[in-house]
Amino acid sequence: MNMHEDWWKQAVVYQVYPRSFRDSNGDGIGDIKGITERMGYLSALGIDAIWLSPFYPSPLVDGGYDVADYRDVDPRLGTLADLDEMIAAAHAADIKVVVDIVPNHTSTEHEWFRAALAAAPGSPERARYIFRHGRGEHGELPPNGWKSTFGGPAWEPVGDGEWYLHLFAVEQADLNWKNPEVHEDFKRTLRFWADRGVDGFRVDVAHALAKDLESRPLEDWPDEPEQGVIDGENPLWDRPEVHEIYREWREVFNEYTPARFAVAEAWVHPDHQWMYASPDELGQVFNFEFSKMDWFADRFRLAIEEGLASAARSHSTTTWVLSNHDLPRHPTRFALPQVPSRVHHQLVNDWLLRDGTTYIEDRELGTRRARAALLMELALPGSVYLYQGEELGLFEVADIPWDALEDPQAQMTAHGDALKGRDGCRVPLPWTADDATGAFGFSIPAEHAAPHLPQPAWFQGFAADAEERDDASMLSFYRRALALRSQLIAATGSTELTWAPDNGGEVIAYERPLADGRTLTSITNFGAAPVSLPEGEVLLASTPLADDTLPQDASVWIAR
Ligand code: GLC
Ligand code: CA
Repeated sequence: MNMHEDWWKQAVVYQVYPRSFRDSNGDGIGDIKGITERMGYLSALGIDAIWLSPFYPSPLVDGGYDVADYRDVDPRLGTLADLDEMIAAAHAADIKVVVDIVPNHTSTEHEWFRAALAAAPGSPERARYIFRHGRGEHGELPPNGWKSTFGGPAWEPVGDGEWYLHLFAVEQADLNWKNPEVHEDFKRTLRFWADRGVDGFRVDVAHALAKDLESRPLEDWPDEPEQGVIDGENPLWDRPEVHEIYREWREVFNEYTPARFAVAEAWVHPDHQWMYASPDELGQVFNFEFSKMDWFADRFRLAIEEGLASAARSHSTTTWVLSNHDLPRHPTRFALPQVPSRVHHQLVNDWLLRDGTTYIEDRELGTRRARAALLMELALPGSVYLYQGEELGLFEVADIPWDALEDPQAQMTAHGDALKGRDGCRVPLPWTADDATGAFGFSIPAEHAAPHLPQPAWFQGFAADAEERDDASMLSFYRRALALRSQLIAATGSTELTWAPDNGGEVIAYERPLADGRTLTSITNFGAAPVSLPEGEVLLASTPLADDTLPQDASVWIAR
């Protein structure tokens, strides 16, 4: 199935956050060789593709999402030759490689931005970014009140009356996508990686590239144009013109055989996701609804319905995401008190802000629900995006000391009352339970620097080597579930889903065709009342089944 043009339509994609995956040379930072060394592990896990978060040269203000050179590897992570080797190792293991493209902004260390600062207002160098004159007699006031996503103003003065726009950190300057030079340069970058054998791209903040700074005076816009509104009346997010960019990129993708694939990170209204995923654009879009939902059957059912509807509209397949490098890990989310609305984890953020002390994290419950969620997710039609460490059952690390945090979200709000940031899910992975090997095997056994984010002592209980030997571990469960999915479920290529008779209320139950001609029923029970199992062979259950019923917070796959 992997050789097929459409390999990505029902793929399991594993996100690698390179700096925290595996450190091959002991400097405390995960690297490209570290990924190559663990290709056997990834292959045994049973995934179809890896997506690498940015590994490009970067001052690392935003974990590498501040790119200084789009066509190179950060020397701290390795070389282009290391990357070629990694791609070859992945392909030899029948694993596709997806890289991250960050087109909304460059690092202020990018040669273009340096040139822009050195050049005069109105110059072609400045026209690659979004420079505007400030208000006030000498331009001493920002052009308007727009706020950065990480907090603080979105405009930064450069000392000559001009200000540049940054929707994220000050060190991430927004590019001007009205400039043809910007278009040409990104097409060059896409070809650069596609020529090196990269199979696809994840497009960072794909909904922000097109901006309207012309149709009305800047000061007439609201200070915080809301993401997720769908009226096209938003100057910054999800503007209709953004789709022209992706139609242009599609032509580049189609220069290759098989055509390169792309997935959009676009935090837009669910009704608008499908446009990014249509076949003449990127092909797929992240459906983040699972990651927004607390543990309630009706919320997840709605997320499934919306995801399938969006996929049908785009003539593509949807995606399912429980965790990524921007979100508190889902076993922790499910272990804290649950809120029955689609909220951005206010409660979890509040818990993090106070080092995980305000609410009780019921880890047994979190693990139980995470196992149940996995089966519910994996049998659905579409692609599944896994985040490194979820296969080990890792929880969020809530008590990283403030002075050790790297995330600009935390830096910018430190001592304030906003966010502790995203580092708690970016802590380097534990590979061995024996800490004498160096950082639980994250680093090499010889003398090594401390991992770039501190690992908690409890990581010992989640080490990959110990979990590999334990049949009841999360890792063994992931391997079993992924093998069944690829052999029996995704192998049919079908995207058909039928709601099963048990579906409704506290139960999510659906049917899918199986490759051996039988039908799969996937059942998840959110409620206290046990659900009696339909007849058939139990392929896998998220918890041992004592009698013929499915207990609360559990899932089962039954073949008939
Ligand atoms: C995306 C990335 C996030 C980054 C932001 C700015 O949302 O996933 O990690 O901070 O874009 O590039
Ligand atoms: Ca290293």
